[in-house]
Amino acid sequence: MSRGGGGRLALALALVLSTVALPCSAAALKVGFYKGKCGLVDVESVVASIVASRFSKDRSVVAALLRLQFHDCFVNGCDASILLDGSSSEKTAGPNSSVRGYDLIDRAKAAVEAICPGVVSCADIIVMATRDAVALAKGGRYDVQTGRLDGKISLAQNVNLPSPSMTVSQAASAFARKGLAVADMVVLLGGHTVGIAHCSLFQDRLYNFDGLGNPDPTMDPKLAAALRARCPQFATADNTVNLDQNSSSALVVDSSFYKQIVARRGILQIDQELALDRLSKSLVATLANATDFAARFGRAMVKLGALQSRLPGEIRSSCRAVNKRS
Ligand code: HEM
Ligand SMILES: *[C@@H]1O[C@H](CO)[C@@H](O)[C@H](O)[C@H]1NC(C)=O
Ligand SMILES: *[C@@H]1O[C@H](CO)[C@@H](O)[C@H](O)[C@H]1NC(C)=O
Ligand SMILES: *[C@@H]1O[C@H](CO)[C@@H](O)[C@H](O)[C@H]1NC(C)=O
Repeated sequence: MSRGGGGRLALALALVLSTVALPCSAAALKVGFYKGKCGLVDVESVVASIVASRFSKDRSVVAALLRLQFHDCFVNGCDASILLDGSSSEKTAGPNSSVRGYDLIDRAKAAVEAICPGVVSCADIIVMATRDAVALAKGGRYDVQTGRLDGKISLAQNVNLPSPSMTVSQAASAFARKGLAVADMVVLLGGHTVGIAHCSLFQDRLYNFDGLGNPDPTMDPKLAAALRARCPQFATADNTVNLDQNSSSALVVDSSFYKQIVARRGILQIDQELALDRLSKSLVATLANATDFAARFGRAMVKLGALQSRLPGEIRSSCRAVNKRS
């Protein structure tokens, strides 16, 4: 081989190596990534204790974190881009409406930074904290992979979350673009077994769904009447109702959400459609009586957590801002 060829080869090799060395949000994930990375301290239990103390005061933290992980992972992968402040960052986009839990992530981040600064990513904190919250809400405990980097870009215009009035097949296409199958989507939407929705996001189903003054015919008329009382047509306040209408399990991560949608008691249009569309209804019927919902949900959350961006990443020192000079 000529010297020139060898030079080109060396250059190519250097390029490959530098690309590999360049920290990228698409890092190799594994269970227990932080083991031994923070002295003898178990990073996962530091996060878990912050979540447990919040949960003991406010069980709605479970819903807050589940939605936070979905919104983070679905846009640019799980890179904590949703946490970045800024006048046009992701959290300012319409579908953010009422995403919560930012303060809890700040607390967990402060706790791990105090012990080993610059080691634990905000993206991993979201995923670990959500796992802990699900377990506390009786949803079962699943192992999460860690080793993510935090992204440096967060733009409202990149927020491409499905809307609640999409059909199942439209929503399925949005999930498919992320590499998630219909079955993953159906199980992940089981996240709506906790939490609340604002009237403004399903009001159209209650009053004039067909343009002729009739409510959505797929909704149980008794539920529609109750919701009309809770969500007056010309109200100024935007009230909330539970996404899981089984009042004894509204704060529990379980499969009763599926029983509710089979009984035509879904709140969001997409939730109700899951029980009716031929793409999803047989899995919904299975899940309504499933004894292994927790295991299925855990596997789907791990899949959601594996979505990654290929953009450069870092370990942020504040979850709300990219590092200076990086
Ligand atoms: C097609 C996909 C999805 C759509 C269209 C959708 C839509 C919505 C909407 C409109 C709300 C109500 C927000 C509000 O009124 O403030 C909501 C709440 C929520 N979503 Fe979803 N969602 C989807 C998937 C998911 C997934 C995959 C998860 C988690 C695994 C999730 C977890 C939650 C939770 C926990 C809440 C309640 C939040 C709270 O109480 O603060 N959603 N979702
Ligand atoms: C979420 O989006 C709404 C509507 O675009 C905006 O008014 C609100 O300030 C945003 N919330 C956050 C936390 O940025
Ligand atoms: C309501 O929730 C309780 C407690 O989790 C459960 O035992 C019951 O089967 C649920 N019922 C329906 C109709 O969803
Ligand atoms: C779940 O099982 C119960 C009891 O066997 C049955 O009555 C109900 O129809 C089942 N639900 C669904 C959605 O298959």
